[in-house]
Amino acid sequence: MQANKLIAICPLEALQKVSYLSRPIVFKKQPCSALVFCFDGQVYSYVNHCMHMHRPLNGEQDAIFDDSGRYLRCSMHGFVFEPTTGECQSPVCLGQHLQTLRLQVVDGIVYFAEKHLQLPDCP
Ligand code: FES
Repeated sequence: MQANKLIAICPLEALQKVSYLSRPIVFKKQPCSALVFCFDGQVYSYVNHCMHMHRPLNGEQDAIFDDSGRYLRCSMHGFVFEPTTGECQSPVCLGQHLQTLRLQVVDGIVYFAEKHLQLPDCP
């Protein structure tokens, strides 16, 4: 099996100092963005696309966590998601998941490790 190509995001130390990062990506040939964050000592990434009304989670506020810091929260209508799985906890979309993006940390650098992910071309 072919290994996924690694695309560098940032040093882990830098990610640990911020609430989250957003990166423009192309996933399965669709331009979008990725959310990348640390939670409980692990790194996670999801396509920044809320299944409720197809908006980015940080579309209305520069934040992706609720006030407790326990759940991801879409700033459009407040739906919440389990950070470790991307599973929606709000009734309308209960059980649906944000699209997970695989990550790897190698020598202190966080990488996307997702075969359907590319960086957008520079304009
Ligand atoms: S678009 Fe995310 S909660 Fe409605």
